[in-house]
Amino acid sequence: MDLNITVIGTGYLGATHATCMAELGFNVLGVDVDQDKIDSLSRGVLPFHEPHLPELLRKHLASGRLRFTTDYTEAAEFGDVHFIGVGTPQKPGEHAADLTYVDDAVLQLARHLRKDALIVGKSTVPVGTARRLRAVVDSVLAERGMDGLKVALAWNPEFLREGRAVEDTLTPDRLVVGTGTNRPEDTEREWAHGLLRRVYAKPLSAGTPLIETDYETAELVKVAANAFLATKISFINAFSEVTEIVGGDIRTLADALGHDTRIGRKFLNAGVGFGGGCLPKDIRALQARANEVGASAAMRFLTEVDEINLRRRDRVVHLAEEHLGILDGARIAVLGVSFKPESDDVRDSPALDIAARLYSSGAEVSVYDPQGNRNAAARFPRLNYVDSAHAAAAEADLVLLLTEWDEFKRMGPQDLEPYVRERRIIDGRNVLDGEKWTDRGWTFQALGHRPGV
Ligand code: UGA
Repeated sequence: MDLNITVIGTGYLGATHATCMAELGFNVLGVDVDQDKIDSLSRGVLPFHEPHLPELLRKHLASGRLRFTTDYTEAAEFGDVHFIGVGTPQKPGEHAADLTYVDDAVLQLARHLRKDALIVGKSTVPVGTARRLRAVVDSVLAERGMDGLKVALAWNPEFLREGRAVEDTLTPDRLVVGTGTNRPEDTEREWAHGLLRRVYAKPLSAGTPLIETDYETAELVKVAANAFLATKISFINAFSEVTEIVGGDIRTLADALGHDTRIGRKFLNAGVGFGGGCLPKDIRALQARANEVGASAAMRFLTEVDEINLRRRDRVVHLAEEHLGILDGARIAVLGVSFKPESDDVRDSPALDIAARLYSSGAEVSVYDPQGNRNAAARFPRLNYVDSAHAAAAEADLVLLLTEWDEFKRMGPQDLEPYVRERRIIDGRNVLDGEKWTDRGWTFQALGHRPGV
């Protein structure tokens, strides 16, 4: 039997997963309540920037392996395996995750199922969610008199990075699948694991490790991974605070640490810190959940991780003030506004936060990002969005490099000199060679370095 796959939720995660499942050879139906999103995806237009994804999307719309719908009846009839990839944003004004979309998706599906099905959660959820949803599915099926159906729920967290979403989905570092019980004699568990081994046959045959476990471990692996990454970034940024006072070179420190294979060099890039739709909200939601279950002390260190991260943004604002004397009326060029390169995502972007705060303090802020301007303008329209680094630098008293796009990393002082009013730059991502700039009379400041060093 060929497997038919639905992917419920067609945001970043869902649209990527649906497209990649088609690339793995399955017939796929993407499902969303947002008709505009469905129309756009059906035309081959992605509402976000992600390398390689548009080509694959169009390839599989054309091959007929990928379709989109808003209709849960159609989804329930079609799918053997239903992936849930809806968002779990931070609740406004709280740290906890908002589970409305996950709850709705599972409920809708359970209300429409008429044949055996495996439901597979991919969204990032607080520990305990899968077990709770499992009970919801059982009770809805019982209410409908459909409890004779074989319906199982597994949790298979997603670890994809924006900017490398296709590669991370097709060749992940690991696959984690959690099911309700861990008893080997449990046939439902075996059935669920067996189906997912078929879905992921290609990566598994290429050697991707598969961890088959219980719900709680699967849910926790995801948030633990993001908490670890966030901690690693804040760790090096905490040392930035020290080297900014005592001197030293934060990049060399990170390199030297990274040579220890137990530590590794990745995620030790000091700078304006982490942002995006995942790391900041996940460490907050993890603390909120830990508080709920009586383990608040265990996750308290994440408060510090969050605070170190946010202090980096304050630091850039203070440095700008120090360099300019007064922000009111100063012209500042901001290079990069997305939360990281190869992404147009500005959710919780350190760069946009800093730009907005400088504007609020009276500076005239010109922003250029190769992909992020549109989303940034939707969130904070009052900045002056321009379409090149040169345009941003025009008459600038200070240049801030806040997202390390390749075109900024390659940039030299000569590229900006014809445009700026004052030769001053703050490298918020530690990617420029300071000597090249100071040799040409620039005031150069990189985060993690003592001013003037
Ligand atoms: C993160 C995780 O890396 C993924 O594994 C996970 O699946 C995803 O969240 C998610 O939960 O969906 P992502 O948010 O795409 O992925 O971005 P990262 O590459 O992790 O970068 C996060 C932030 O950390 C960015 O703002 C980046 O600029 C910053 N960062 C990263 C640093 O400041 N320093 C570093 O050394 C590395």
